[in-house]
Amino acid sequence: MQLRSIELVLPNVADAAAFMTDIWGMASAGVKNQTHYLRGSGSFPYLVALEQGERNFVRSVTFVCTEQELAALKQRVADSGLAACPTQSTDLGGGEGIIVELKEGELFRFLVNAEEVDPIEGSDLPVKLTHVVCNAIDAEATGDLVEKILNFKVSDRTKGMVFVRCNNAHHSTAFARAGFASLNHIAFEMEDMDGVMRGIGRLRDHGMVPSWGPGRHGPGDNVFAYFIAPFGPVVEFSTAVEKVPDDYQVGAPEDWTWPENRIDQWGMSDKDFTGLRTAEEAFKFYRDWQSAPVL
Ligand SMILES: [Fe+2]
Repeated sequence: MQLRSIELVLPNVADAAAFMTDIWGMASAGVKNQTHYLRGSGSFPYLVALEQGERNFVRSVTFVCTEQELAALKQRVADSGLAACPTQSTDLGGGEGIIVELKEGELFRFLVNAEEVDPIEGSDLPVKLTHVVCNAIDAEATGDLVEKILNFKVSDRTKGMVFVRCNNAHHSTAFARAGFASLNHIAFEMEDMDGVMRGIGRLRDHGMVPSWGPGRHGPGDNVFAYFIAPFGPVVEFSTAVEKVPDDYQVGAPEDWTWPENRIDQWGMSDKDFTGLRTAEEAFKFYRDWQSAPVL
């Protein structure tokens, strides 16, 4: 199972796409049905879809999986009573599968037979998405739910987050103990730490500074730099998230404490808590489909 893409709907899609290509550093993968598709250097046809709409919302977070994983998932979803629906993707790469609405409205889509493309060598593009994090009213319950229904595994719990994996990367998603449900941030995997630093430089060329970072997280051990995109959401350059074994010992909040004046391993940058908090409310999930049997 791999995190592939996020599908966003928003009013001013052309400006958002221009930011993501010209400044953030992605490549256009084309425009189809008033949707701008943006890709990285990896083999996924796109990582971010920006669809023209009247207001902001998250249509889905998309994972790709095997036929076997999808069959088992369908059974667990059917048994769970969660809202869900079979789906045929009309996005680049196609594929089919199901979309599931979790308890707090998060919309996770699971596809098989989605096409891949040739990677782009020698570019400075983000490689892929490394995680998409959601804000949750009850992150603990959501962590339990995704373990039970989606077969994801909680990797670590901290005071602020429940980190969840769907393969050997420490986390592909996480649920922040926010007290409200929304998109928390979208993180892009860069080739290496230099890629993250060059990204920070590129944004600086356009008058933008990180809202937090550069730094290195505790859980996942990844390097990060968070920015608030002009079209609303929090986006992150990241690299080198830890790979974990199947029997990874799940950490508890008391395992992840910081010395005074530290909230990451390096302690070299301030965090714009207020700005990030506002940006985290820019996009909420919205379901515009009816639940239907998935089996
Ligand atoms: Fe992150």
